[in-house]
Amino acid sequence: MSSSQELISLGVETSCDDTSLALYSSQRGLIDYILSSQANLHKEYNGIVPELCSREHTKNLYFLFPRLLERNHLTKSDINFMSVTTSPGLILSLLVGVAFGVGISYALDIPFVPVHHIEAHIYSVFLEYDIKYPFLALVVSGGHTEIHLIKGFEDYELVGKTLDDAAGEAFDKGAIALGLDYPGGPAIEKFLLDKSPKLIDFPIPIKDDRIVFSFSGLKTFLKENKDKYSKEDLVYSYQEAIVNHLIRTLKKAIEKTGVRCIVVVGGVAANKRLREKLKSMDIELYIPSIKFCTDNAAMVSLVGDMRFKKGFYYTKKDLTYIKLEPHLSLEAFIKSLKTKN
Ligand code: KG4
Ligand code: ZN
Repeated sequence: MSSSQELISLGVETSCDDTSLALYSSQRGLIDYILSSQANLHKEYNGIVPELCSREHTKNLYFLFPRLLERNHLTKSDINFMSVTTSPGLILSLLVGVAFGVGISYALDIPFVPVHHIEAHIYSVFLEYDIKYPFLALVVSGGHTEIHLIKGFEDYELVGKTLDDAAGEAFDKGAIALGLDYPGGPAIEKFLLDKSPKLIDFPIPIKDDRIVFSFSGLKTFLKENKDKYSKEDLVYSYQEAIVNHLIRTLKKAIEKTGVRCIVVVGGVAANKRLREKLKSMDIELYIPSIKFCTDNAAMVSLVGDMRFKKGFYYTKKDLTYIKLEPHLSLEAFIKSLKTKN
């Protein structure tokens, strides 16, 4: 395949509870993406049920795939390679997407490009902006809360991460404790829409200069004070405490690295209060549109296209070497690319 020829890839994202596919052009960028959210299904159980996730992914993929192709007037034979999230995530959820990707790669004899979910979130901003290196990426999702220094493509350094829960998990668990729906972030925002709450002082996590996050103390304080304050004051102050902790830790990372170009990604980056506070900081800030903050295959296909152009992919003969690892860190994943087989 010559580099001037347009190549079309199919992105696959099934690491948690959203099933998503995307079509991406090596020359024109994102063509289209499709998504099926399972939020309503898991709401009933106040959180994600892994077994249900994988069953839903299996059902969803087989109607999303033809629908995406049809509405773009493409057929399977127009796909030149696959870009698939292989780590991290729920093992059974990853397995469905990887099996789907491997199956298509094998059947069509096209390359398979592995993508790390956190890397995909970080690069989701490139779907809308062109950003110069280096930059700091604050990743705030349901499973991860970490800051990476991004020096170039595949040149990443972990600056700090959470010691316990992720920010999204804190929103989700707090919302359930207060009788609100899953997922917690959007439920908390919706609840606060028509309220005029007062601020309650929550404990401040990590008062020293370590660049780490911790949300368990906030959650404990919330549960212990449930009967002492009004629900609206508690919900509002809990959100303020989470957002302030994210901002304070980000400031420490900026101070340590001297990097002022900041990218904020992941489901929690959709939070209006967080976006408001970030915008008031003296930094060069990039946050994706809400639709690209939460899980989607558009961001996976963008990274897959970059990795393919660098020449890393599995072909039919080495598909069995694909590693599907639910807990692999971003830096360990990049290292693993150097030792493919
Ligand atoms: O990135 P994501 O879609 O999936 C993971 O990779 O985890 O993030 C999902 C998380 C959930 O915990 C959800 O409560 C949170 O993102 N979230 C929000 C908002 N929208 C989604 N948190 C705060 N405010 C929001 N508007
Ligand atoms: Zn995610």
